[in-house]
Amino acid sequence: MQESEREPVIEAEFEEIESVEIIPDRAEMLATPGPADEISIARPRPSIELPEPPKTRPGMARVIVCINQKGGVGKTTTVINVGAHLATMGLKVLVVDCDSQGNCATGLGIDKSKVSNTTRTLMLQPENAAQCRYSTLIDGLHLVVGDRTLVTLEQELVSELGRERRLTEGLAQLLPHYDIILIDTPPSLGIVTINALTAADAVIIPVQTEYFALEGLAMLATTLREVRSRLNPRLGVDAVFLTMHAPTLLNGQVAGQVRETLGEMVVEPPIRRNIRVAEAPSHGIPIHLHAPQSHGGKDYINLAENLALRWGLANRGNGGSD
Ligand SMILES: Nc1ncnc2c1ncn2[C@@H]1O[C@H](COP(=O)(O)OP(=O)(O)OP(=O)(O)O)[C@@H](O)[C@H]1O
Ligand SMILES: [Mg+2]
Repeated sequence: MQESEREPVIEAEFEEIESVEIIPDRAEMLATPGPADEISIARPRPSIELPEPPKTRPGMARVIVCINQKGGVGKTTTVINVGAHLATMGLKVLVVDCDSQGNCATGLGIDKSKVSNTTRTLMLQPENAAQCRYSTLIDGLHLVVGDRTLVTLEQELVSELGRERRLTEGLAQLLPHYDIILIDTPPSLGIVTINALTAADAVIIPVQTEYFALEGLAMLATTLREVRSRLNPRLGVDAVFLTMHAPTLLNGQVAGQVRETLGEMVVEPPIRRNIRVAEAPSHGIPIHLHAPQSHGGKDYINLAENLALRWGLANRGNGGSD
């Protein structure tokens, strides 16, 4: 075909196309100063203010929630080992597992499949609270078992009136029978966790000395303030403690930042990373029975004794309580 015979279709189409603004080169965009007031400025992180703990009500258990929205930081390990050692000190301890993973039962040697009343029962039938407790191989330590039925409970409670206070009601008649009620929570802020915070006097916070630990703490502090203002004005913080601590530069730096930010709130020394702690649950026993002389054993015994002092319970064991 000759050049002159070609139809001018293409040229016509080009003429019809609307002109679009050409996107400037990225480097050019970054170099061009924009109006300053349209730019968001990341402000320095506010200091983490944790609310003061309240006094324990006379003749009632102190209700403590072990919480950190971050997963795998040692919440369950702490509840099992601190609960068990407090009971060994002669205190009356109830552990309530609010996590559908149900690891407290395993760690305390209880077969979940043989349990008929669980934390779900406690929350839905407060009148049957006494039957929701199971004894463990440690004298003075009772357990309310968490299991996967807590997952559906989350959904069922969504539209229920007074849904945040079910656990408070469930625990009410048990309070006079214990010195400490220790509640384990999942790494999420669902209705069951909110129930735990609503029922609590105070929280204890395990912090793994890894990067992002302080951001997690700041997020948790916000959650606690919200629960205090809307649901439970008593809620305070009893202690923060460092977990799975290893002698690395990063662990040391993060531990330093946490101490600098929270001061005496932090229990010393940190819980060291220790294989004995990790393997104890596979035997269904706490660390003070599995390997009390291990680093992890010593650290958890120290933590339990430190907490008992903070709670004014150190001399109350061995028949001292009602
Ligand atoms: N000091 C320790 N040394 C070694 N391993 C540990 C230590 N503490 C906890 N672990 C192990 O780390 C894992 C996570 O611990 P744990 O289950 O207590 O965390 P968690 O905060 O309850 O987790 P989740 O958020 O899933 O409930 C477990 O396998 C546990 O055995
Ligand atoms: Mg857990």
